[in-house]
Amino acid sequence: MRVIVNGAEVSVPEDPRVSLLDLLRDRLGLSGTKKGCNQGACGACTVLVDGERMLSCLALAVQYDGRTITTVEGLAGDGVLHELQAAFIEHDGFQCGYCTPGQICSAIGMVEEVRRGVPSNVTEDLVSDTVTLTSDELRERMSGNLCRCGAHNGIVEAIIRTYAAAEAGPAT
Ligand code: FES
Ligand code: FES
Repeated sequence: MRVIVNGAEVSVPEDPRVSLLDLLRDRLGLSGTKKGCNQGACGACTVLVDGERMLSCLALAVQYDGRTITTVEGLAGDGVLHELQAAFIEHDGFQCGYCTPGQICSAIGMVEEVRRGVPSNVTEDLVSDTVTLTSDELRERMSGNLCRCGAHNGIVEAIIRTYAAAEAGPAT
C-alpha cells in the first residue's frame, strides 16, 4: 500500500494500528503536523487529503491507500511560502506556532468547502448555491482548530485577507 505525501510516493506500514499522524511524524519525519490531543479535539494534526481537511490523529494510515496527502511542509513551493503562510506572518497569526500548521491546512480546506457552497452551522440561507466567507462563517468553520496562545484575531485576519473573495459555487 502506498500514499502520496507532498508529491512523493511512500509505503504505508502494514500495522493497521498506525495513525496517519504517526506515519507522517514518526516514520516520515514530517514533524510540521502536530500531535496535540491525539483524540480529535484540537485540530493541531489537520492535513489535507485529496484537498479536504482531515484530522490525521483519527485516521488510520492503511485507509488512505492511493490517496494524496499534503502537510504544511508541502504547501510552500520552490522556497516560496504559500500565500496563507505569508499572511500568518504578516498579521501575527501565531505565537508559539504549535497550532499553526493545523490552522493553515484547515483554512485551505475550509475555503474550498465555502467555494463549493457547503453550508455551516451559521449559514442563514441553506438553499442558496453560494456562501460568503464572513467573519462569523470563518470563526464557525475554524472552531475545530484551537489556539491556546489566543492568537485567534490574527488567525482570522490572515485568512480573511487572503481569501476575502472566497465566494462559493454550486453546492455539492
Ligand atoms: S491531535 Fe488530532 S485533533 Fe488534536
Ligand atoms: S500559536 Fe500557540 S497554540 Fe496557537
